Amino acid sequence: MDRRGRRARPLSRLRAAAGLALALAASTALASDRLRPLRAMAWLAPGADLAAALGREPAECLKTPADPALARSVEIGRAAFRDPLLLGGQAARAGLSCESCHAGGRDNPRFRFPGLSGPPGTADVTSSLFSRVRGDAVFNPRPIPDLAGPRATLKTPPEALPAFLRGLVVEEFDGAEPPAAVLQGLVDYMAALDPAACPRAREAPVTLAGHLANARRALAAAATAPDPETAARMVAAARAALFLVDERYQRLPAETQALRAAAARLAPLQAAARAGAPDLARDLDGWLSDSRRLERRLAAREAESLYAPARLSGLQPDRP
Ligand code: HEC
Repeated sequence: MDRRGRRARPLSRLRAAAGLALALAASTALASDRLRPLRAMAWLAPGADLAAALGREPAECLKTPADPALARSVEIGRAAFRDPLLLGGQAARAGLSCESCHAGGRDNPRFRFPGLSGPPGTADVTSSLFSRVRGDAVFNPRPIPDLAGPRATLKTPPEALPAFLRGLVVEEFDGAEPPAAVLQGLVDYMAALDPAACPRAREAPVTLAGHLANARRALAAAATAPDPETAARMVAAARAALFLVDERYQRLPAETQALRAAAARLAPLQAAARAGAPDLARDLDGWLSDSRRLERRLAAREAESLYAPARLSGLQPDRP
């Protein structure tokens, strides 16, 4: 190689490096301009109408029992049903909860998880993707049943539910053994889903108020939980509910900051719950009353958030 050639090389390398740096800068700029996909988009059928799929959800058909102790148990189950951590393993990492498939305690015709679903609305719950125990290496997706559908359409008799649900959590989804009160809560929540309690409209809008209400109900369940582990799981469920708010407020930095500060206050409360701290209920009350101000602040900009159906259509799927 001649001298010019040798000299030219570092120069062209430099140019290439500069070009790369520019390209990188451009792509980071693009990445930060682009909205992050919502987590639930990972289990939507491709081409799904995002405003409908993420802006609306099946209405819950919950008949709250008159007996206060039973009503408290239903609330424990309701919160656990919406918490990905109940399922553990791969499902928890993906952010999947019971409610991802049984939206609003019902079904989810738009659910399609790669490797787990056949046609939209089906899932293989004995997939080795989620379970080391029951993974059967056979791809047999089944329609996701509406848990508030007519009782006659459900296959599991009420007396078989405790063993069925424990198997679902621990064996099918690799979750940690749930505390007895959480398992009983799930059983009681299933029993409280009643076709007669379905609102007239099949679907309801997904709203900030709805997600914050879920967080508050989980914290109320924590305050009256019968044991520390269940109380700690309820606080964790509230944090999971706040995550759903957080991702809808991206690009609204002041609101995001306020929300994260509130969420951060729940971490020590979760630890206090697990330790059986005596003043937990008082601290939870403090959080709950402060959350009203937070809600007003967030609600003022809900129309600019990803709760607004018009904004959802602009989201890009999380797939190549
Ligand atoms: C990945 C999607 C998915 C998740 C997550 C999921 N399910 Fe299901 N569930 C299904 C499917 C599909 C069936 C039907 C299975 C069959 O027909 O063999 C089912 C069946 C059931 C049934 C039985 C209904 C009947 O006919 O008796 C109950 C109860 C139930 N699920 C509750 C839950 C609970 C509680 C959780 C969380 C611990 C959960 N599911 C998580 C998809 C899911």
